[in-house]
Amino acid sequence: MKILAIETSCDETSMSVIEDGTKELATTVLSQMDTHALFGGVVPEIASRMHIENITIVLDETLKKAGLELADIDAFAVTYGPGLIGSLLVGLMCAKTLAYIYNKPLIPVHHIAGHIYANNLEKPLEFPLLALVVSGGHTELVYMKDHYDFEVLGSTLDDAVGEAYDKVARVINVPYPGGPLVDKLAHQGKDTYDLPTPLNDDSYNFSFSGLKSAVINLVHKEKQNNREIIAENMACSFQNRVVDILTKKTINAASKLGIKNLIVAGGVAANSGLRESLSISCQKNNIDLIIPDLKRCTDNAAMIGAAAYYAYKKGDIAGLKLNARASIPLK
Ligand code: KG4
Ligand code: ZN
Repeated sequence: MKILAIETSCDETSMSVIEDGTKELATTVLSQMDTHALFGGVVPEIASRMHIENITIVLDETLKKAGLELADIDAFAVTYGPGLIGSLLVGLMCAKTLAYIYNKPLIPVHHIAGHIYANNLEKPLEFPLLALVVSGGHTELVYMKDHYDFEVLGSTLDDAVGEAYDKVARVINVPYPGGPLVDKLAHQGKDTYDLPTPLNDDSYNFSFSGLKSAVINLVHKEKQNNREIIAENMACSFQNRVVDILTKKTINAASKLGIKNLIVAGGVAANSGLRESLSISCQKNNIDLIIPDLKRCTDNAAMIGAAAYYAYKKGDIAGLKLNARASIPLK
């Protein structure tokens, strides 16, 4: 089954053709990052306008790469939430139009289900599994006993981890996109700043706003004392706290629940400190770890196409009344 998947939830216009949930025939990702960098972050109105300009270009390019025509496609899948409403609507209207014209199923995909299924393109998922979801909008531990069966065990009580990265980046004068650059700086610095380990308890929940505020307060205090903070050292100290707590809670959950399969999902799965720490801890604890290739960590339509195959098999087919949702729980 060839699914043409569309992802426009934030600032990437992306399409992909995925066969049977595992085989990537073609993917195109057109990033708007350079434009939003001028404003220090994603500007929703600009994002949706750029999706409109780019969507047919991305469609043509993806079909050309796959060597297919629209008539060869068996179903159309689309991210319908969570995300920026204006951005989501562009992808949604495109998917609805194609499904209507070609009289094929329209498959609605939750963005986080997509991030999780990016791993299915690396290696078919094995169950039961634990997914650590770490993105700009989400930080969650998700239990899956089978395909497309999600149970959220815990989540962030405030900021998502990617959001904390982006906010910390701003206060230490790191330009947008903050996360990857803070990650890079962290490797050039030392863990010298006294920062708290957030929500260091036995729950499966996370909290990053206290850690973020500690960074902001320290930066202000140093400024008041006419001292400059050393950005590399702050990045390293911040990243160590984040990686430590994510690793600790994830491995604890896997051990308590007796789960041997761990996957990591979302943009922050690209973080080199997290990748290294999890792979060391998983090896020690005899846990099989899958982390997507870097290109599949951040937003892309291949992950949506992979998820869509299992959503379809479960009977998730939408009518043309399907609407975009800014926020929607994973279930
Ligand atoms: O999954 P994603 O592309 O978009 C959302 O669904 O949110 O994730 C984007 C987030 C941003 O906050 C970005 O700063 C963060 O992922 N990110 C990273 C790294 N690469 C991307 N954070 C830390 N280290 C990285 N290497
Ligand atoms: Zn995402």
